[in-house]
Amino acid sequence: MAQQTKTLNIGLVFGGRSGEHEVSLRSARSIFEAIDRSRYTISLIGIDRSGHWHLLEESQFRRLTDDALAALEDGGAEVALLPAPNRGQLIDTQGIQGATRRIDVIFPILHGTFGEDGTIQGFFDLADIPYVGAGVLGSAVGMDKDVQKRLVQAAGIPIVPFQTVNHHQWKTGARAVVERALPLGLPLFVKPANLGSSVGISKVSSPAALAAAVEAALEYDTKVVIEKGLDAREIECAVLGNDEPVASVPGEICPTADFYSYEAKYVDDNGARLLIPAPLDPEKTRQVQELSVRVFQTLECAGMARVDCFLERSSDRLYLNEINTLPGFTSISMYPKLWEASGLSYRDLISRLIELAIERHSNRQRLKRSYRPNPY
Ligand SMILES: Nc1ncnc2c1ncn2[C@@H]1O[C@H](COP(=O)(O)OP(=O)(O)O)[C@@H](O)[C@H]1O
Ligand SMILES: [Mg+2]
Repeated sequence: MAQQTKTLNIGLVFGGRSGEHEVSLRSARSIFEAIDRSRYTISLIGIDRSGHWHLLEESQFRRLTDDALAALEDGGAEVALLPAPNRGQLIDTQGIQGATRRIDVIFPILHGTFGEDGTIQGFFDLADIPYVGAGVLGSAVGMDKDVQKRLVQAAGIPIVPFQTVNHHQWKTGARAVVERALPLGLPLFVKPANLGSSVGISKVSSPAALAAAVEAALEYDTKVVIEKGLDAREIECAVLGNDEPVASVPGEICPTADFYSYEAKYVDDNGARLLIPAPLDPEKTRQVQELSVRVFQTLECAGMARVDCFLERSSDRLYLNEINTLPGFTSISMYPKLWEASGLSYRDLISRLIELAIERHSNRQRLKRSYRPNPY
């Protein structure tokens, strides 16, 4: 009992309404197994596909996450946080018990829409609870491939030539869109602006295939990015910190198929090889790390992010592909593996992220919320 009073209660929030629901459950299970129990207790908060929150028992959570790709169906008391500061009290929405327990820090391990895009981060801000990872702004621009590119471009960070088209422009002038996109050069990559896991992405190798690719991407988002395809190595780097972020050793993804597709990421066990560290010379390693920290700071991230780069084979030049503010976080995912290779264990990484969440929250709490005009 004495020990319990000293531990912080971490609300592990997983599942969610995005296509990456099952992946999130895997990451949650890994965190649950590895977290330092001498410092933290865990409340297991599963968000089902319809967006309802459930407080799960350990046994229930284990059963659920023993399956390779399970989804959270139902079960567990339905709970909620109020969008008003009430010291992290989880509320039983059936009203039987009222307040159930107090959460000190939230660890949202949600990917994609409503998890990684700033929406739930805004909700945690309203509830005034510290949470792991980027805030509203960093999450939102980290999710939007179009706005993200425009911001890093303004900061002088190299990106591949791209164009953006929204559903209205496509509906009213598809031919003009095709004509302005083709000069980017084939192959082209066509992507929904706000998604992940390669869902809705096509590689276009002939002009005739472009329209179908745009339409496929528009099924997932009202905005689509069309960009020049590179023949490039895919180099990823893990960044950790708030005001003074640091970069891990870089890693490399070697997809076996044409590109790093959804299947290569989650379905085919042999879809890609991960090389940790990436075989790069010291100077290139330094460039990747420097670029990754600059991207993290330009996009106003916090806590963690994985920065994914292209290293063009012909020119040996580095380009930013994208940032992921809530990267895959199972114990064998790239982000934790890169830190392990850099000397920080998975367990200590989790603790560090929780400390960073508390640091960011307390820095923001010091801010004045009102202003009294000077009477003179
Ligand atoms: N411009 C490009 N040139 C070459 N390959 C690309 C390009 N854009 C995307 N890809 C391939 O598609 C994959 C998924 O694209 P990405 O932009 O990272 O989307 P997601 O957010 O879904 O991961 C990349 O990992 C890479 O294999
Ligand atoms: Mg990617």
